[in-house]
Amino acid sequence: MTENVSDKPENSNVVWHPTAVSPAERRAMHGHNPCVIWYTGLSGSGKSSIANAVDRLLFDRGCHTYLLDGDNVRHGLNRDLGFDDAARVENIRRISEVSKLMQNAGLIVGTAFISPFIADRALARELIGGHFIEVFIDTPLAECEKRDPKGLYQKARAGEIKHFTGISSPYETPISPEVHIRTTQLSIADAAAQVLSYLEQRQIIASLDLD
Ligand code: ADX
Repeated sequence: MTENVSDKPENSNVVWHPTAVSPAERRAMHGHNPCVIWYTGLSGSGKSSIANAVDRLLFDRGCHTYLLDGDNVRHGLNRDLGFDDAARVENIRRISEVSKLMQNAGLIVGTAFISPFIADRALARELIGGHFIEVFIDTPLAECEKRDPKGLYQKARAGEIKHFTGISSPYETPISPEVHIRTTQLSIADAAAQVLSYLEQRQIIASLDLD
């Protein structure tokens, strides 16, 4: 075998190419800062509903956004992944990389994944860099199970789904999320407003001038 030929993924002959358009130029064009809004919570907690409501509000304000949703991404990019611990780690790693690219493009990116493990969310924060905003969609398991929008808790209780988060696989509660949303006390609209006001406070987006 010839020396210097490597099939390792971390090939030292791959060189990072500098980009011609700067992040500041992209910010100026978009009119807001880029960020990643990382929603985490149990299945059925309301992540997708709240993330979509936030996306709508931001879009209507003229922000450039995109939402990566667990179920949708598992139809394409991550269709080869299941739900054992290793697959969930890889799921979150890929989403983190995609989110980072989208953030580099100047977008406000929402990600709605259970992302049950503290270590993976910490890794996502580190890998993505920039403005990483963890939003804990806090809905008690009993409430998620009562809502059971997709009938999955019933199946999990019946033993028809393996490794189901909250039933047969753990969910590790965030310790200090940037935004903590208690869905039993808030409507979807109020929850979305809470996220928007945090984005204003962090000066990711401009505050609305009410004068
Ligand atoms: S994560 O744990 O890897 O972050 P992700 O958010 O991508 O999960 O996918 C969760 C969605 O997949 C759930 O909302 C549910 O619709 C579906 N699902 C199917 N099987 C499982 C399972 N074993 N555990 C959790 N969710 C599952």
